Amino acid sequence: MATYSQTILDDVRAGIDIVDLVGRFVNLKKAGVNWKGLCPFHAEKTPSFMVNPKKGIFHCFGCGVGGDAFGFVMRQDKLTFPEAVRALAKQANVALPEDRTPGDSGREELVRAMDLAARFYAEALAKPGGARARTYLEGRGVDPEVARRFLLGYAPEGWDNLRDFMRGEHVAEDVLLTAGLVVKRESGSGGYDRFRGRLMFAIRDLQGRVVAFGGRALGDEQPKYLNSPETPLYTKGNLLYAADVARESIRGKNRALIVEGYVDCLMAHQYGFGETVAALGTAFTPAQLGLLHRYCDEVVTFFDADAAGQKAAERAEQLLEPTSGGAAWAVNRSGNFEAPGAFRVKVALLPAGHDPDTFLRAEGAAAFTERIDQARSLLAYALDRVIADPEGGAGPRARANAFARAALMLAKVPDAQEAAALSRDAARKLGVDPTQLWIEAQKLQAALRKPVASAAPRAELSRPAAASTTRERDLVTFLLHAKDARPELLPFVEVADVRDERLRRIVVALAARPEAEAEALMPDLPDEGTRGLLAALLVEDRAPENPAALVGQFRVHLEREQRLKRQRELARRIADDQATTGQAAAVHDDQFRALHAESKIVYGIAGGVAQSLEHGPRGPQGVETNE
Ligand code: CTP
Ligand code: MN
Repeated sequence: MATYSQTILDDVRAGIDIVDLVGRFVNLKKAGVNWKGLCPFHAEKTPSFMVNPKKGIFHCFGCGVGGDAFGFVMRQDKLTFPEAVRALAKQANVALPEDRTPGDSGREELVRAMDLAARFYAEALAKPGGARARTYLEGRGVDPEVARRFLLGYAPEGWDNLRDFMRGEHVAEDVLLTAGLVVKRESGSGGYDRFRGRLMFAIRDLQGRVVAFGGRALGDEQPKYLNSPETPLYTKGNLLYAADVARESIRGKNRALIVEGYVDCLMAHQYGFGETVAALGTAFTPAQLGLLHRYCDEVVTFFDADAAGQKAAERAEQLLEPTSGGAAWAVNRSGNFEAPGAFRVKVALLPAGHDPDTFLRAEGAAAFTERIDQARSLLAYALDRVIADPEGGAGPRARANAFARAALMLAKVPDAQEAAALSRDAARKLGVDPTQLWIEAQKLQAALRKPVASAAPRAELSRPAAASTTRERDLVTFLLHAKDARPELLPFVEVADVRDERLRRIVVALAARPEAEAEALMPDLPDEGTRGLLAALLVEDRAPENPAALVGQFRVHLEREQRLKRQRELARRIADDQATTGQAAAVHDDQFRALHAESKIVYGIAGGVAQSLEHGPRGPQGVETNE
């Protein structure tokens, strides 16, 4: 089923952090080697959805779905396998064969060009020509250390500085054009440097690869900020500035601060708020919030006191929009009103005219912390705004309008507790009965609620079908985890004898590619159920303690199984013969002798297993020695 080579699939898999990927849709918490959260594919209130970052797989113990990164996006985004590969290859910056068509520069070349450009700009900042930019930074109070950490740079004056440098690095002009570093001349051929005489901010993705630049004018030239265009590497609204630097801190503090500007962000880091990211000028998007929700439960944003109500209302409208992918507030897509652990988006107010940069420099870190501590829910601001400005002045109609809008907004709030609190508050301000508002909101909720995306839970998928397959399952689990054991054991595994159908398919895949990592077998498996089972077997991550001993024991077991099988066949043949010929048993002397010999071997081996088990307090994992 895979149309892409194993090497490519492996490259893509290696370039994707499954915790990041899944975390875009599920709020994951660390649980041992795994990460745990609420399953996005069925409605549940206690988390049984596991992600194993080392193996790159996910598995839900509740509904049994599971798979690798490809399987996840296939399910989540309803993609076919090749579509999933293409989507993830893009994220992992892996070039697919079709990307390498002539004239279309591959992603690898783009990544290299952006990286070279970032270094070129950073070096230019340090050189004598960068004096003006250094003075500018000093004037704005940016520490040189912070400037280095954020890879600040300077694009020198002139039309061809970067182009000349890139020529020396053998980067083709069309790559520079695609990367947005060079702009095509309107007349004639060739191009010129996009960024000239500007302070350069490198925008990096979560893997730390430079994907875009923002260039600030050093004086009053327009525009104040000049940004890279969208390119194959960069989609506006998907990234957050400094997310790569801030990620660990956000995880650690379980909180992110989200500011608007580059300098706000640098300054926050400089003042000790390492959990700060910038939304890059745009209002923050659901995609950006989704990204943050991978790492924390709370986001604090900053509004100028004058504009807070207006801005909060705008943001809330965008973020509560169900079409926005649902990743904003509620990650639980069940439509359940009691969605636990909802994402909190708060607003901290800054005095009119201030942004985080100016506020920090004027008032310091302690005052900033105070503002953060006083932050209120974004929804509360937005609701206030809805109530205060019901689109149509005063009077009974305006009031009815305000009531309806408030109810609709409350209906979209996924966190029940927050919704209830907001609703009490709103009712008081509207002068209506809180119950009335609450009932209206719930009615709307029901209307908004969409059918659950996934099928009903299929619990049997994660449970072994029957006790008789427990041993098979142990064997397959062992084969998956212990690569070295495969050549020794696989020849003894009779595919047709594997009773469980899905285990059998896994064995077939293993036998076809015994050298593959277990997780790499995922695309080889023909159906979803089998992929789910593979994920289930891998997510438990039981590294065998003494693989050599287990190999011996499984082998003994397999040989015994095969002999027992032969014995049964022989016995049946003898019985058949007797039935058809009516002859006495003695006539089948040689067959009896063969049967006898087989039995002796079987018993001998059974004794051997018993002996080997005496070495440990218990048998090896799940290895049973009796029929
Ligand atoms: N921005 C942009 N293009 C512009 C203006 C702004 O991309 N023409 C983005 C930048 O990321 C900028 C952010 O929007 O940092 C906020 O803009 P603004 O508030 O105007 O600027 P500040 O960040 O305060 O810029 P500075 O402090 O450098 O004046
Ligand atoms: Mn500013």
